[in-house]
Amino acid sequence: MSVLEAVSAVHVEALADRLHIHWTDSLSDSFHYVWLRDNCGCSTCRHPIAGERLSDPAAIPLDIAPTSVSGGESVKVLWPDGHESTFSPNWLRMHAYGDAANQRVTSPFLLWSAADVASPPEADFHEITKSEEALLVFLRQLRSYGFSIVRNVPTDQSGRVAEIAKRIGNLRDSNFGLIWDVKSVPKPDSLAYTSVKLTAHTDLVSRESQPGLQLLHCRVNEAEGGASLLVDGFAVAEELKRRSIEDFEVLSRVPASFRYQNDFTDVSATGPVIKLDHRSQYFEIRYSNALLAPLQCDGADVAPFYRAYQHYSRLLREPQFEFSFRLEAGDCEVFDNRRVLHGRQEFFPQSGPRLLEGCYVDTDDYLSRLRVLERAGDFRKR
Ligand code: OGA
Ligand code: ZN
Ligand code: ZN
Repeated sequence: MSVLEAVSAVHVEALADRLHIHWTDSLSDSFHYVWLRDNCGCSTCRHPIAGERLSDPAAIPLDIAPTSVSGGESVKVLWPDGHESTFSPNWLRMHAYGDAANQRVTSPFLLWSAADVASPPEADFHEITKSEEALLVFLRQLRSYGFSIVRNVPTDQSGRVAEIAKRIGNLRDSNFGLIWDVKSVPKPDSLAYTSVKLTAHTDLVSRESQPGLQLLHCRVNEAEGGASLLVDGFAVAEELKRRSIEDFEVLSRVPASFRYQNDFTDVSATGPVIKLDHRSQYFEIRYSNALLAPLQCDGADVAPFYRAYQHYSRLLREPQFEFSFRLEAGDCEVFDNRRVLHGRQEFFPQSGPRLLEGCYVDTDDYLSRLRVLERAGDFRKR
């Protein structure tokens, strides 16, 4: 959560195993004593410069309870061995956990259908490569919409796509290399390197960790066909949940299998098509018809899986969800590959060349960059 105004702990109530805090805005949260002791930020418990934990979570008595506590502008806890911990109410509020805190969690995602992005989120190459403010706006677009189209990317030389990526984080390597050309070739080892239609998919589904951001920079597009498409996989999952809670449950539970093979690569991964986190919030979509491998789930789940997979697939292809557009030379589509599915229509290489250049950045790197740019003033590790 983000704390817009400073809170203070107006009233602290010491229960048997936890501290209950009533905040100034009349909300309240509980913090277990073992949790509080573990999160003491003093310079004995955490290294004063490196900021990382020196104290040992394994050494805290599980039934630890304070000898005294006080609230107000800061929360002070005195432990039986004389150790004192001081917490800022804002820090506690930001790290609150449990039912009350979970209910306050707001999704960072702005779910969309095609009409919502008729004028899509956009950024300018020169601005985001020069200005931190423009980069922050761009990363926030990626976080809320799951995509943005960067305009005015020079097409003069190979590697411009990496200039955008490196503003965000490290390039994620794979069997396709750090940067790869998407064009129709005589001996393709992926459907991407043909001219056929690519139905909406996420990339590298056959890797345990799917890359977070994908960048596709259009350097040449003189071919007929080849329109690009983006679909918000979370928005479509939400629609699936509305239409059939059973199908939604099956896709978020049954492990699908994916595999990619070429002359020197054989990678496979397993995971649900719609993955939720421990709070039942959307975590990621893993979906590619091209790389779906023989299902290895329980027998009882086979028929339900295909029913649910077909249902989700039909929804993904509904025009209301499909943002369709043409990438022109100088455009770079950047999307959260674990949320927004991408694809293209068939194109006709005889009618003219089409060349995209792509690369990936992992989610950790991109969220790290976003957090660092959002960091205000003083920063203390904890
Ligand atoms: C890809 C891909 C889309 C396109 O290379 O992963 O999906 O427009 N390409 O060619
Ligand atoms: Zn301490
Ligand atoms: Zn792809």
